[in-house]
Amino acid sequence: SVPSLASSDAFLQCLSAAIPKQLLYTQSSPSFTSVLVSSIRNPKFSTPGTVRPLCIVTPTNASHVQAAVVCGRRNDVRVRVRSGGHDYEGLSYRSARPEVFAVVDLANLRSVRVDQKSATAWVDSGATLGELYYAISKASNLLAFPAGLCPTIGVGGHFSGGGFGMLLRKYGVAIDNVLDATLVDANGRILDKQAMGTDVFWAIRGGGGESFGIVLSWQVKLVPVPPTVTMFNVTKSVDQGAVDVLTRWQQVAPALPEDLFIRVLAQKQEANFQSMYLGTSDTLLPLMRSRFPELGLNRTHCKEMTWIQSVPYIYLGSAASVEDILNRTTATKSFSKATSDYVRQAIPREAWVKIFAWLAKPDSGLMIMDPYGGKIGSVPESATPFPHRGGVLYNIQYMNFWSAATDGSAQTRWLRDFFAFMGPYVSNNPREAYVNYRDLDLGLNVVVGNVTSYRAGKVWGEKYYMANFRRLAVAKAKVDPDDYFRNEQSIPPLVVTK
Ligand code: FDA
Repeated sequence: SVPSLASSDAFLQCLSAAIPKQLLYTQSSPSFTSVLVSSIRNPKFSTPGTVRPLCIVTPTNASHVQAAVVCGRRNDVRVRVRSGGHDYEGLSYRSARPEVFAVVDLANLRSVRVDQKSATAWVDSGATLGELYYAISKASNLLAFPAGLCPTIGVGGHFSGGGFGMLLRKYGVAIDNVLDATLVDANGRILDKQAMGTDVFWAIRGGGGESFGIVLSWQVKLVPVPPTVTMFNVTKSVDQGAVDVLTRWQQVAPALPEDLFIRVLAQKQEANFQSMYLGTSDTLLPLMRSRFPELGLNRTHCKEMTWIQSVPYIYLGSAASVEDILNRTTATKSFSKATSDYVRQAIPREAWVKIFAWLAKPDSGLMIMDPYGGKIGSVPESATPFPHRGGVLYNIQYMNFWSAATDGSAQTRWLRDFFAFMGPYVSNNPREAYVNYRDLDLGLNVVVGNVTSYRAGKVWGEKYYMANFRRLAVAKAKVDPDDYFRNEQSIPPLVVTK
């Protein structure tokens, strides 16, 4: 229900009583817009037509988060929580439908406390991946954490959806390495792993952001890395045999030793093979010669470095320094649209020829393919909500970009048409998708009698979570039966009557 203006006033009064006024920005505050856009990654959700929040709260301690939830609940105003603001559909700070809501922005709650002796850390949701990686490297250059590539991603949203990067074949998804967490529930209580119970602790590790409450902090297990890793980057154009090498890559990459990760970016008429190997080039080169000679890797392609140096190298370019991963500025002028697929059976060579024809069209985008196998594939599907495990060869992310000079309709159309073309070659029943590459084209929640419909939610929910969707809905009913935490793709509550 859309709350009346009266309840908005009462909500703001309740907040003002509980939260220092410099941490509360209403639409009339001079800094409202600058705080709102501070971590908006996709400028397409920063237009005059965007449904913006009534106010933004920027907590500096947990009690402020609790107060925002309690005031919201009492006055019928929902809160949306933002950590890094990288949501592909902007759901952490905008509503796709008219709604009065507030944003709880966790950017100030971002400490990272590393305990080198136990190889664990507590990281607050508002920290970026760059801040997490940096703090770990300061404690030890032999420890790391397996999560995403882009250093400005927020820990809160990323862990909520799974989270993977170049260590996924060795150490799985970020949430496979989460030991404990603290959650503010819909009653404003702070719960740790024990207090939230097995089902809710299971659900917050990959069941998507927003649904179960606001995760304040995560305890993670750090993972060992060698003192030297080797990076390589090899590009093959279609004329240089990209189709054959890519066809072969599908079989080779998911079956390689876990220390070797080779992903592919396909764009225009080129396939770019980007790799991280946990070891030196002396052992990598013979391994590549025996397992993937078609790529033609030689020593000149290889660059040895520490794991922490690989973070800026892969995402910010070879000129970037390790300190650059602390830069939280996400300013980007490119508008984007993305979606994803999972491949369980290698795509035939003839189809790759057609795929490169799609990539040659005007207004085309790119494909990023991350190989699975190894650790990520050895975890049972039901161990966490993230179900894309054994049998997955690789994940595809489709992306397209445009500038403010156009409305993006041609680029968005290309992406949708190409996604339709890919249907026969990718997973089906369900056609799996990765929730961190959120796409509202997969389906939107329907609210019936002020509760999100489980039946309607299955349409998108089974794509992200497969058989785990039902268990997520049951966990939601336990922790938030009134469906206070809600967005366009939040988990609906399912009350099971025995
Ligand atoms: P944001 O703050 O927008 O939150 C995302 C969702 O989670 C929202 O629904 C929000 O309400 C909710 N949420 C946020 N904080 C929460 C909290 N504390 N408690 C509960 N819910 C919370 N992914 C990946 O796996 N590997 C990768 O390498 C990359 N690379 C990448 C690059 C770029 C440029 C972008 C834009 C995105 C990626 N991603 C990715 C996807 C990324 O993992 C995904 O967008 C995350 O949800 C972003 O988390 P943020 O906290 O930044 O988002």
